[in-house]
Amino acid sequence: MTEQSPALDNLLTENRTFPPTDEFAAQANAKADWYDKADADREAFWAEQAERLHWDTKWSQVLDWSGAPFAKWFVGGKLNVAYNCVDRHVESGHGEQVAIHWVGEPGDTRDITYAQLKDEVSKAANALVSLGVTSGDRVAIQLPMIPEAIVAMLACARLGAMHSVVFGGFSPAALRSRVDDAEAKVVITSDGQYRRGKAAPMKTNVDEALEGAASVEKVIVVRRTGEEVPMGERDVWWHELVDGQSTEHTPEAFDSEHPLFILYTSGTTGKPKGILHTSGGYLTQVAYTHHVVFDHKPGEDVYWCTADIGWVTGHSYIVYGPLANRATQVVYEGTPNTPHEGRHWEIIQNHKVSIYYTAPTLIRTFMKWGEDIPAKYDLSSLRVLGSVGEPINPEAWMWYREHIGAGKAPVVDTWWQTETGAIMISPLPGVTSTKPGSAQRPLPGISAKVVDDTATEVGKGGGGYLVLDKPWPSMLRGIWGDDERFRDTYWSRFADQGFYFAGDGAKYDNDGDIWLLGRVDDVMNVSGHRISTTEVESALVSHPTVAEAAVVGASDPTTGQGIVAFVILRGSAAEGGEEAVQELRNHVAKEIGPIAKPRQIMVVPELPKTRSGKIMRRLLRDVAENRQIGDVTTLADSSVMELISSGLKSGK
Ligand code: WTA
Repeated sequence: MTEQSPALDNLLTENRTFPPTDEFAAQANAKADWYDKADADREAFWAEQAERLHWDTKWSQVLDWSGAPFAKWFVGGKLNVAYNCVDRHVESGHGEQVAIHWVGEPGDTRDITYAQLKDEVSKAANALVSLGVTSGDRVAIQLPMIPEAIVAMLACARLGAMHSVVFGGFSPAALRSRVDDAEAKVVITSDGQYRRGKAAPMKTNVDEALEGAASVEKVIVVRRTGEEVPMGERDVWWHELVDGQSTEHTPEAFDSEHPLFILYTSGTTGKPKGILHTSGGYLTQVAYTHHVVFDHKPGEDVYWCTADIGWVTGHSYIVYGPLANRATQVVYEGTPNTPHEGRHWEIIQNHKVSIYYTAPTLIRTFMKWGEDIPAKYDLSSLRVLGSVGEPINPEAWMWYREHIGAGKAPVVDTWWQTETGAIMISPLPGVTSTKPGSAQRPLPGISAKVVDDTATEVGKGGGGYLVLDKPWPSMLRGIWGDDERFRDTYWSRFADQGFYFAGDGAKYDNDGDIWLLGRVDDVMNVSGHRISTTEVESALVSHPTVAEAAVVGASDPTTGQGIVAFVILRGSAAEGGEEAVQELRNHVAKEIGPIAKPRQIMVVPELPKTRSGKIMRRLLRDVAENRQIGDVTTLADSSVMELISSGLKSGK
């Protein structure tokens, strides 16, 4: 990645910038001088951020990095995470403030105040205690987006038990491997879940998963859909167990490094990694970032993060960050097009949502559905828009700003990972002049660099690997049960320098701003030129006929790799045949340069995506290289690959 490829310049030709308005800047939580302040004394800066929380015992040392790569933050400090997210807001007189405006998919709603949340969390904590759950135990949670999911997580945190939330769409086998790996003592689930307007079973999947699972003593079942479910000996209904419990529960203060949760994420090999996060540092950074990146004002804003609690975004930006900051937030159970494609905009209008945080894949889906849909709703309450999960192409960014943010709400493109625990690179609304498609700059207190193979930082305009060269409070504290894999995956590549290897490619533009280019395994090498799949996708999507695009590097005897693109065309464009495809190849050549012209473009009806919305390029590579298609079990819809293959065979 040392050489500067001309083909990488495409994103750099994106040179629009949007400075903050004076009005926004004047009221912004973030201050421009925080970058220098944090650089001057990083630990003092983080100590100041940690003061956002209530500590039962103050720390004696901000950071102990002597056991690197295992960090200790706020050493000697003690706190209770759930107390910080719930009780203290009630004690400071905000018990009547709504914490959660919950919206069920079928249209049922619940508003839960902080005082009510405190009662619910206390009851659930007492219930878990009655089952013998104590500090350090693991509790697996597989639930839909219902309030009990948040209550269950906070109840675990209150007891110092670790939760391991497993996304509701995961298969029984995936749940089982996670339950076994963490040796979960209790599993919390529901009878069923609503998806796309229909009740789907959940408990029966959990039963299948847990057959013979030795560690599991109890399964707690929340009633959601009301369907009949078999209740076995170790099963207990949530309402029977929890409802009668006392609302009094005294939270215990735990060490700052007490484990908070495990969250499994996929790596390059088959076995998912149990990413381990702890208490004080994690809560400090999620609270700090939620405050500055979203400009959140407690008691004024209505915040909505559309993630699922099964992913890290749900942990950090639905549960811990917003609740630590006394947010009033919307939690929506269902899919964005149930019962109609304006569902999100309707919810924003009804609840006067002011901060909205979502993923590029959803933004592109909204684009596909058409801008006339959001145009029917009053979105004037929106003042900050966030994006997370993958690089956002400039067209989607602009569409988001214009059609959702009325051309004035700042868009914050936030880069981070399950492993980083909280946002690391992002513009600061009110401070940063934003650029469509760039996450721009490490937050005050965070240090990141783009380096080449020899760990040398590249210059302006240069591309390479993204590394984090200084420890940060919410960093992972390891992979559950596998220290070696932890060192190997993240710390071995640049072991001499002690850099954390993020696995993402990135580059600096001429202002020194960072542009994320996708996973390094998604970077193609064509005739010795490095071209990011994201970049070619971005070029394709900028053509008016293209709704979505995914690009892979397929092995090529002449050029090393050849670029193969899969595109979904808009409406009647799909009828355009070979001519339409030729035009697209030329369009990419025009946008990026002849070197980036795709070898092949295949028009497809769908793209294979994981349940979190990531395109599974591995499967597309199989198609592009005429191989047998690999494991499809993590796809949201496993029939997509058949659809793609059969369409291609029949020449459609
Ligand atoms: C990608 C999600 C570009 C990246 C919070 C990272 C992004 C992986 C962005 C982590 C962004 C996330 N721009 N790429 N704003 N945000 N990514 O663990 O490749 O589900 O390594 O965490 O998503 O995904 P994860």
